[in-house]
Formats: sequence, structure tokens, C-alpha cells
Amino acid sequence: MKSLIDKIVKTSRELEVKAGAIDIFVPLLEALGNKDMYTLEHSARVAYLGADISEFTHLVPKKTLWVPGLLHDIGKLAVNQEILKKTSGFNEEDMEHMKKHVEYGCRILLGTADFSAYALFFHHFFKKNSGYPKEEDFKKIFGNYFDKWTEGTKILGKYCGRLISVSDFYDAITTRENEKFSPGKPRLLTREEAKGIMVQENQDQEYLINRLYDAGIFGGK
Ligand SMILES: [Fe+2]
Ligand SMILES: [Fe+2]
Repeated sequence: MKSLIDKIVKTSRELEVKAGAIDIFVPLLEALGNKDMYTLEHSARVAYLGADISEFTHLVPKKTLWVPGLLHDIGKLAVNQEILKKTSGFNEEDMEHMKKHVEYGCRILLGTADFSAYALFFHHFFKKNSGYPKEEDFKKIFGNYFDKWTEGTKILGKYCGRLISVSDFYDAITTRENEKFSPGKPRLLTREEAKGIMVQENQDQEYLINRLYDAGIFGGK
């Protein structure tokens, strides 16, 4: 795990993330890796995808997607380890418990990494037909905390959450044997299958997804 953390720190410094922020998130990421190495590796991949998307689109500076990408699943620190490590056979109760990782993550980061807390609220929000948490949960979690933000910052935060959700979805369906899209026979999806599912499940982002595949950011370089 040390080499991955070192790599994350090196990239963070290159992207000019403040030393104080690095000092806050490194212990959190170490704790996440100790709990479930797959989730730490996934978080790092989502962060690198975010940085690549920033570089390719010039929509936001690289570190604007990098830090929230690293921290988007930090709430899994508070999720039961057995459930976290399950790859199939989730029951309703497991799913409900797992979904809480968004709220836990927001609460862990609020006050220390506000932009990440805001963006991560939205990383499962846009999921087709089953997004969570719900709009009304925003106030329950954050209260009036973000009222001080300008509309521009709120729009940017939500959009960064959307971009992270696309990277998150991509990584989730391409790095783990998949049962959802291959019922009864968990297996890794092919490049074309993954691309089709990406578009089907994220129709509003079809243009971006196709461009990211064309650029080799998705689908292997
Ligand atoms: Fe998540
Ligand atoms: Fe994730």
C-alpha cells in the first residue's frame, strides 16, 4: 500500500494540492486501504481518470477533480467490512447499509474538504432510475452550510460530482467481475460491452463518454 500512497502524494504535490490538505487526506486513505485495498485502488484510479478528463476537456483544473476523486468513497471507512468486501449476493439490507457511504463521506469531509464533500454527495445521485441520496437528503446532511457558496460554485461542485460519477461507473464495471450486467455468471466485460453500458446508463453524458473512448482515456490507451 505504501507505494500507492507515495504515488498519490507525489501526484498531489505535482498538481499543487496544498500541503495541509494532503496531510488531512493521506491518513484517511491509509485507513481506507487497511480496511479494503480494492476501494483504495479504485479511489486512486477514479482520481487519475478525473485528472485525465480535466486535462483533456480543460473544463476544470486537474486538482479540482483529483482530490474529490480520491475521497469520493471515503465514507466506506464507516461501512461494515464484510459488506464492503462482498462482490455478489447483496441483500436489500446490505444495499441500504452500503448506500450510507455517501452520507458518511460527506460528514467525514465537511469542514475540512468542503468541495470534495459537496461533489461526493452527487457521485451516485445520477444513477439511472436508482440514484441516491435523494435531493431532500442534501439539507439533512449539510443543513444550511453551503448557502454561503455562490451559485457558480454549487453548479461546479455538482458537475464535478457528475464527472466523478462517470469515472466511478467506468472503473466499477471494468475492474471487477460483474454480475449485474452478466446475471448468474460474474465476469469482466469486454471493451465494447463496457462502452455500450456506459452510454446506456449515462445517456446525458453520451457525447463526453464517446470522446473519452476516442481519446483512449476510457477503454485503454
Ligand atoms: Fe461510491
Ligand atoms: Fe466509487
